[in-house]
Amino acid sequence: AAGGALSGKRVLITAGGTREPLDPVRFLGNKSSGKQGVALAEAALAAGADVTVIHAHMDVAAPAGAKLQSVETALELRAATLSAAGTFDVVIMAAAVADFRPASISSGKIKKRDDTADPVINLVRNPDILVEVVAHRAAQNLKQLIVGFAAETGDDQDDALSYAEAKLQRKGCDLLVVNEVGPGDSGTERVFGQDSNQVQILALDGATPVQASGSKRTVADTVVRVIAARLSAS
Ligand code: C5P
Repeated sequence: AAGGALSGKRVLITAGGTREPLDPVRFLGNKSSGKQGVALAEAALAAGADVTVIHAHMDVAAPAGAKLQSVETALELRAATLSAAGTFDVVIMAAAVADFRPASISSGKIKKRDDTADPVINLVRNPDILVEVVAHRAAQNLKQLIVGFAAETGDDQDDALSYAEAKLQRKGCDLLVVNEVGPGDSGTERVFGQDSNQVQILALDGATPVQASGSKRTVADTVVRVIAARLSAS
């Protein structure tokens, strides 16, 4: 789209859920479908951006028209993201990154044996890639807009939002797109794997939060609109 709101802009999006191997055939994963990341890529492409998607596991097809790089683990996602980040105007971290990974990866398949105790999986923390992207921007003196996502649970919406506000401050990204996850009133999952989403877009500079709800594409279009407005104002 020549003349689109993000025409000439380079946008990096991380998407999908990382998988942290336990042994050659097993991993710890998460429920991320990649749908929101793909929708963001499509929205950014429609706005005329040059889009790169670094994606971990996704249940959906990667977006046509974007440059793609596939990774598996949080550490791979981190390496790919940090080595690419320098040339992008916008970085959107929509990937669901595992907070922990197994402390060691068994070189052979972990076997069940009646004569030994049940195995225990020790976990170690993964780095927070979003925090590192923010630090990288500062270290390289880049003019870059950085957007995080947060899936929050809380006793109620206010509760979830105050967690999100604290997270925004802690991570230091410009925008944090927040959705409440977990069972809704009907008891079914509201976000993961679903086609629709309800979010608030919080801004580090204290701008009034922007709400969006509807399909993940509708949410993505709103996120892109907020990003484009900030780029043109700066
Ligand atoms: O802390 P939390 O996982 O809720 O933060 C979510 C945001 O941080 C997302 O944008 C996600 O992509 C990013 N993240 C990250 N590295 C991690 C954990 C989360 O970049 N290890």
